[in-house]
Amino acid sequence: MEDLFSTVDMANLPPEKLTKQEAADELARLAKEIAQHDAAYYQKDAPHISDAEYDELRQRNQAIELRFPELVQEDSPSKKVGAAPAEGFGKVTHSQPMLSLANAFFQEDIEDFLERVRRFLGLNDNEEIEILAEPKIDGLSFSARYEQGVFVQGATRGDGTIGEDITQNLRTILPNNLHGDFPDVLEVRGEVYMAHEDFLKLNEQQEAAGKKIFANPRNAAAGSLRQLDASITAQRALRYFVYGWGEVSQQKFGRQQEVIAWLNALGFVTNPLLENTNSVEKVMEYYRNLYEQRPELSYDIDGIVYKINRLDWQERLGNVARSPRWAIAHKFPAEQAKTIVEAIDVQVGRTGAITPVARLKPITVGGVVVSNATLHNADEIARLGIKIGDHVTIQRAGDVIPQVVSVDVDARTGKEKEFVFPEVCPVCHSHITREEGEVVARCSGGLVCSAQMVESLKHFVSRNAFDIEGLGTKQIELFWEKEYIKTPSDIFTLEERDKQALTSISNWPGFGKKSVDKLFESINLRRTISLSRFIYALGIRHIGQENAKLLARNYITCAAWKEAMVAAGKGKESAAYQELLSIDGIGEKVADAMVDFFKEEHNVQSLETLLAQVQVEDAQLPQQHSPVAGKIVVFTGTLTRMTRNEAKARAESLGAKVSGSVSAKTDYVVAGEATGSKRKKAEELGVLVLSEEAWLELIDGTE
Ligand code: IVH
Repeated sequence: MEDLFSTVDMANLPPEKLTKQEAADELARLAKEIAQHDAAYYQKDAPHISDAEYDELRQRNQAIELRFPELVQEDSPSKKVGAAPAEGFGKVTHSQPMLSLANAFFQEDIEDFLERVRRFLGLNDNEEIEILAEPKIDGLSFSARYEQGVFVQGATRGDGTIGEDITQNLRTILPNNLHGDFPDVLEVRGEVYMAHEDFLKLNEQQEAAGKKIFANPRNAAAGSLRQLDASITAQRALRYFVYGWGEVSQQKFGRQQEVIAWLNALGFVTNPLLENTNSVEKVMEYYRNLYEQRPELSYDIDGIVYKINRLDWQERLGNVARSPRWAIAHKFPAEQAKTIVEAIDVQVGRTGAITPVARLKPITVGGVVVSNATLHNADEIARLGIKIGDHVTIQRAGDVIPQVVSVDVDARTGKEKEFVFPEVCPVCHSHITREEGEVVARCSGGLVCSAQMVESLKHFVSRNAFDIEGLGTKQIELFWEKEYIKTPSDIFTLEERDKQALTSISNWPGFGKKSVDKLFESINLRRTISLSRFIYALGIRHIGQENAKLLARNYITCAAWKEAMVAAGKGKESAAYQELLSIDGIGEKVADAMVDFFKEEHNVQSLETLLAQVQVEDAQLPQQHSPVAGKIVVFTGTLTRMTRNEAKARAESLGAKVSGSVSAKTDYVVAGEATGSKRKKAEELGVLVLSEEAWLELIDGTE
């Protein structure tokens, strides 16, 4: 056995010292050796070398191949990283959602963040808050799962709940086996990126081979990681940092920083620039230092992330929407550039909002070509004093739509033209109206305005709504133009109608049988949908994802929700309207938008037609087993053991509905000190009033 796995001297030479011939020999030797270990490990379940030694062999193979890409053989170990899935990537449901971060741009935002943390946790001003500051890597986030110390699954963030299965791709980047004291289950989360030098080298190779040039390291990393053929990923120099974790079976630390150090000891690359601080002044200093250091770093960063170091505080703070309350991203200032406004147009949105857009002489800002910038509304145009032909400074920050920052009045020649805000919709020619007190002008066309209808359809199929793959902006516009899809329910009858049509869609230019079948398949996959997504997909004004979730959680079934919305239309005094308003987080503006939608007969009609095509799943309460699941709770008075926000978040995570007002439906009123009318009303209605202590006892032991 010794013989079989012995290594020759060449194996000790670093890849850059090898001649081409030596490299070829070394690759052949490595291929053979790795194949033997694979057989020993996978087929006989009896490895001959340690996992770390095995990893080293693969890494050496990869390093030599990166240096001599022309020597990569068909049977190279880097190509044998599992079979590529036949059709796209598989899906992975994250065991814990992958969240995103709220953004901050100014010192004030950071002060607000810390103030919110203090208030939420009920800390006094003197209590120290440890804040872990670290670079925000501009790459792609991933989640990697290890069981018994072995890498078993890798996924992209996706929509935060479901990501793409990139196990085979990540296998070529992350350690396949952990060292030391690893837990049974460990999910690490981090960012995959491409270093500047590797990016430049890749683009040189791409250019020489007449292949696609990548715009920036982030795109190159994305293009390299999201490859159906993982052997391509294996050939690209991708790196990663681990910055967090998902599911962990045993975890014995009290601070973020300690967990990161532990992950590093297990074999993961973590960022060396992490720093523990404890004040706004210190985080600002860290921020400025790193901003200065940015050009010297070998990778792109787009800001700093601040995290509350204590894990018990992180847990208490929990999440709001899709971001944790315990972390914030402090973005670097947007990148700016100067260009010329060639025209100003207006765009019509889904709710009829008219947005003026500056058409610009194309300019590269931060690696991206920008040719449009939003002007928001008429007030903003007036504030900027912008004219057609003006020289302007534009900026973009992250994924935000580019904006015009200022107009260079000195550069004017006198030929610039004033922009006149249109009085009628450029698409349907209905009047544009602007309600008193509103900054946004709207097209009054509603259903006759094709721009609004098309935008609604785009929203309907978008990622956080029905999420229909293969039915994007371009396809919606085409199907609309051809009068194939006019309403949401048309999407679900498309296949049936196509069967009866004289010419199938598969004969249209740009479509083929395969792509059309795939489209029908992805439509059919979405015939079942959660209530919150369904409500959100309808595109009702003011009903974003969060409000849709609140509604779904309150009404549980689609039928109950519909019935309640129709009933709420009977008037503000009605019990249904009052219930709608009592949902914590739903104000009058949102309630009215909801009611207005249901007052329109055609909306109800179109909803019913749609419901004949799709099945809406009942909302799940987050915790069915807790003693307060499904109960309606009202908090009143000053709480002493926890802040109001904390109490509310905790109750909701246990499946209770937190309401702002007491009614006969209320199950518990939790009364702190100095209560007023709510307590009185509860007593009148015979609703159970609990002290803060009694409430804590009731939920004690539940998580
Ligand atoms: S923590 C629960 N730390 O930024 C919050 N994120 O804008 C998890 N990112 O999706 C994020 N560097 O992909 C964290 N040091 C860092 C990061 C980082 C980059 C990315 C991450 C996240 C995105 C949010």
